[in-house]
Amino acid sequence: MLKRQIIEPNDYRDAMARYAGHVQIATTALDGVRRGVTVTAACSVSDNPGTILVCLNHANPNNRIFVDAGVFALNTLTHAQEELASAFAGFGNLDVEARFALGEWDTISTGAPTLSDAAAVFDCRILEAKPVATHMVVIGEVVGLRVGAPGPALLYLDRGYRSL
Ligand SMILES: Cc1cc2nc3c(=O)[nH]c(=O)nc-3n(C[C@H](O)[C@H](O)[C@H](O)COP(=O)(O)O)c2cc1C
Repeated sequence: MLKRQIIEPNDYRDAMARYAGHVQIATTALDGVRRGVTVTAACSVSDNPGTILVCLNHANPNNRIFVDAGVFALNTLTHAQEELASAFAGFGNLDVEARFALGEWDTISTGAPTLSDAAAVFDCRILEAKPVATHMVVIGEVVGLRVGAPGPALLYLDRGYRSL
């Protein structure tokens, strides 16, 4: 029999703080409007065909553009890119273009902004977007890929940035 505990959101977050996540910036663009969001809730689904997922808060109306555009890129950060991670998490309240101005961006396949010196870039077309609780689980087929130079990764653990 399932012995269900009552899980408070704060307790859930305290437990998740023990989970080291690789910091990435999910980006998209539609009709000249760009958007980027710092995320740790992203992972590989399959290598054949290359498929990944990212979870985006759908309480934030600014995230609607991802599904509307039908494409996104996942830019995997190096330890040298903490400033970008903070800006795209909303710290400093920079406007969108000021956030993008902190890095060098290009495009690969879909037109979503891709970070030139990211550790890796996964450029995706959206296969499916499923609302679950507060978030939209967005699944993408990788249609463009870039592997960056090897080096230390930017992780988030115990509510702080770490280098590994
Ligand atoms: C380390 C870290 C990880 C985050 N992971 C996610 C995530 O996986 N999904 C998400 O929707 N928001 C995540 N956020 C929050 C968003 O980055 C933040 O709400 C958003 O960028 C604020 O956007 P706005 O100011 O452009 O509306 C994370 C924030 C930080 C600092």
